[in-house]
Parts: sequence; C-alpha cells; structure tokens
Amino acid sequence: MDRELLVQAAAWIAESRRPVAFTGAGVSRESGIPTFREATTGFWERYDPYELATVEGFLKNPKLVWEWYAFRRQLVRETEPNPGHKALAELEHLLPELMLITQNVDNLHRRAGSRRIIELHGNITRVKCFKEGTLYEDWSDKDYRGEIPPRCKACYSYLRPDVVWFGESLPARALEEAFKSAENCDLMLVVGTSGLVQPAASLPGMARRRGARIIEVNPDPSEITPSAHLFLQGKSGEVLPEVVARVGAIRREG
Ligand code: OAD
Repeated sequence: MDRELLVQAAAWIAESRRPVAFTGAGVSRESGIPTFREATTGFWERYDPYELATVEGFLKNPKLVWEWYAFRRQLVRETEPNPGHKALAELEHLLPELMLITQNVDNLHRRAGSRRIIELHGNITRVKCFKEGTLYEDWSDKDYRGEIPPRCKACYSYLRPDVVWFGESLPARALEEAFKSAENCDLMLVVGTSGLVQPAASLPGMARRRGARIIEVNPDPSEITPSAHLFLQGKSGEVLPEVVARVGAIRREG
C-alpha cells in the first residue's frame, strides 16, 4: 500500500465535516462471508436466486425459502466482525457525524459497534410479516418451535426475512436517507463494493457531482474506481485500520 495515498486519505477524512462510508459485501469477506460475485464461491453460483430470493419463489415454496434464510442467519451469527468493521466503528467515535450506508444484510457493522447505519438491503437477523411488514427484531430460530414459516401474530400471514429480494424495491425511508446523505456529504469512503447493483451503486457518483471527495478501498478495481479521487488498493481489514489509526493521530494532534 502506497504510504502517500494512506496519508492523503487520512488527512481528507480527518478534515471532513459530513463524512459517509458506503460498504458492500467485500467488507465482510474477511469475516468469511462470500461476496456475491466471486466466480467460484459466490452464494448465487450454487443456488438459484429465483427460487430463494424472490417473492414468487417464496410463494411457491415458503418452507424452503424460510429454511435457506434460517441457515444463512445461523452462518452470519457464527461469524465475527473483522478489523475492517471495527475500524469503521472506531471512525464513528472519531467523527460522530459519520453516516454508514451499507448494502450488507449481515448485521456485522452493528455488532462491531457502528450506530449510525442505513441498511439499504435490509437485515437478515430481522424478519417481518409478508403482508403488512410488521417487524420482528433479532429473530431467534433456536427458540422457535412450530410451523415453518412462522406466522405473524397480528394477521396470521407468513413471516419472511427482512431483506430486499430480487425484483423488490429498496426500503423507501432508507433509500431517501441514503440519497440525502450522499448529496450532502463532503467525503465518501467506498469500501468493498463492485458498484454494479442499482440504485445503491449511484451513490458515489451522486456525492462526487455535489463536490465530495471519493476514497475507495478494494483489492480490485471496481465500477467506482474511475470516479474515485483516491484508490486504496487492498483488503478492507488491512487498509481501514491503518487509515483510521492515522485519522485518530491527526485528531489527537489537532
Ligand atoms: P459484490 O459481490 O458485487 O462485490 C464485492 C466487492 O468486494 C468486489 O468489488 C470485490 O473486489 C470486493 N472485495 C473482495 N474482497 C474484499 C476485501 N477483503 N476487502 C474489500 N473489498 C473486497 O458485492 P456488492 O457490491 O455488495 O443485493 O453487491 C451489491 C449487491 O448485489 C448486494 O447487496 C446484493 C447483490 O445483489 C441484494 O441482495 C439486494
């Protein structure tokens, strides 16, 4: 990693007044969660997204879909936040204005200690009523004994995971908050996203057009790279702790 780039990135972050971090699957890679587009190990390489992650698939086979998500909930609960998640939580301590926008559903940012989080694609640890959307936070499969899928206590519809399935719109409030943050930020730290999935992928461009500095962290160039002012090539679990340590040092000095 080029030291000059690290120093520049830390200086920009430390002086930013309205910083945003925008993360994708790559930030959880070092926790052992495969990304979506990894050629051989990506989730959707082995499973049919139409069967498992669409409303139609759920209506066709609700038990299969519920059990697939119960399996994935278990997987994410067994993983731990990595140094990249922890560095972003630490950055929120240093810069309390930091807003974290994530495409991830794995809840690892929250578990690492981040608090100002916009979840664009939902959260796999929550479930909701299929019909009315009533939320059931922190669903425990272990403590549940009964019909699969379980039913909503209020209206008796099926419960489903609170994640965005293919073909569904993003949660309106989260999207609106994300657009507002992107338009108003003066710096966006883009971490571990391919920048291929809309509308999330439009956030860095939106920020840049409004004059924000864009810093990207990714081991490989992405769709975002051409519009980044700084590209820190490397794994987020290695690059972010270094950058955040420098931001902390600058803040302590100044
Ligand atoms: P992708 O799987 O498209 O991209 C993962 C990115 O992470 C790639 O650019 C990798 O180079 C990068 N990466 C891999 N290892 C990394 C590491 N250790 N540190 C940092 N970066 C690393 O994932 P997303 O961009 O998040 O949507 O995909 C966006 C959306 O596509 C997902 O949220 C999901 C999927 O459809 C829904 O489920 C609605």
